[in-house]
Amino acid sequence: MDRLTENARLMIVSDLDHTMVDHHDPENLSLLRFNTLWEANYRSNSLLVFSTGRSPTLYKELRKEKPMLTPDITIMSVGTEITYGNSMEPDNGWVECLNQNWDRNIVLEETSKISELTLQSETEQRPHKVSFYVQKDKAEDITRSVSTCLKERGLDVKIIYSGGMDLDILPQGAGKGQALAYLHDKFKAEGKLPENTLVCGDSGNDADLFTIPDVHGVMVSNAQEELLQWYGIHAKNNPKIIHAKERCAAGIIEAIGHFNLGPSISPRDVTDLSDSKLETFDPAYEVVKFYLFYERWRLAEVENSELYLANLKAVCSKSGIFVHPSGIEKHLHECVDSLRTSYGDKKGLPFRVWVDQVLPVQVGSDSWLVKFKKWEQSGGERLCCLTTALLSSKDVTVADGLTWVHVHQTWFKEAGPGGDAQWLF
Ligand code: GLC
Ligand code: MG
Repeated sequence: MDRLTENARLMIVSDLDHTMVDHHDPENLSLLRFNTLWEANYRSNSLLVFSTGRSPTLYKELRKEKPMLTPDITIMSVGTEITYGNSMEPDNGWVECLNQNWDRNIVLEETSKISELTLQSETEQRPHKVSFYVQKDKAEDITRSVSTCLKERGLDVKIIYSGGMDLDILPQGAGKGQALAYLHDKFKAEGKLPENTLVCGDSGNDADLFTIPDVHGVMVSNAQEELLQWYGIHAKNNPKIIHAKERCAAGIIEAIGHFNLGPSISPRDVTDLSDSKLETFDPAYEVVKFYLFYERWRLAEVENSELYLANLKAVCSKSGIFVHPSGIEKHLHECVDSLRTSYGDKKGLPFRVWVDQVLPVQVGSDSWLVKFKKWEQSGGERLCCLTTALLSSKDVTVADGLTWVHVHQTWFKEAGPGGDAQWLF
């Protein structure tokens, strides 16, 4: 990853379904708590890696459904597809590794003879992954017989059972663990091995992640039977792996704290944000804190107090300008005034705000340009603006907080408004 010039402080490699994403929490609270922690404390010096069983098609669907951050690296199709950055540039070196000793036609031919195997949808059949559904009570026998007949045909494959229903057949050198080992080797060659790696999972295809040397691991509280069984046999005495008390993303936060990997209090869990004591100017934290306040203000989760607005004005430059995505310009002070009438306008409604890829760049001795995506979800509608904010530390103390000098927003092409949209900032 070229974004970091030094070793990442932390690399989180997390599964998505039932690990980062809790499908039993329609409010996505633990995911939003994780997001805020990551953007406030880790984004600029750490790496976020999603490692999912989903194909690119289903991964993109999940991103539209859930308030997920953008990862630095995306590993899809059970460790068989590695891509980098926002443009999801594929790693062709990895594809070549996987071509060794693999012939998916032979896999299809042999498995078609087994009636207990039901092929999954077309989107989930990938160049190095053939996937089926199998009943739980038949999984062990079927795995054994598939393995034997493919061996007889000269193929070395890995067969993984997950979630009590999914059976994946991959090249032996594939899987979530092997993909992570490949990334570690790459980073090592560049002299940029992350200081710590935390792997996070809940089901069978994640077991592989926990086999990589030197990583910390968390099985979230809601982990599946097959993963807990694997742990009982292979990793019980490994102090670097825990079974969290908390579900999904809350379990990941718990593990960051348990292993002392860095800050583990999400700003979402802090009621009085003005109280947090910073040691240095922190532009990313400033952005996270502002939008958290903005969400709470519109949900009426903070008091309707003039004091808050006065404090906001105090951190906005008098001549500061905000460029709305429609192109209309306003003074930052006018924007603060306009907040008065929107106090509590989303009270009791499914309204959420989150920021993604908050990346500050120091552009002068006392100024930072912070770029980020600002998302807002109101019921079923989701909007996003690419945002650039100029913050300054001129003539203020750390306790005062940075001054907002200029803010500019443009619609993110994937999530702009269909027609007229209400968008404050
Ligand atoms: C995801 C994939 C599926 C796979 C399963 C387990 O659900 O969509 O194809 O079998 O993960 O790895
Ligand atoms: Mg999962």
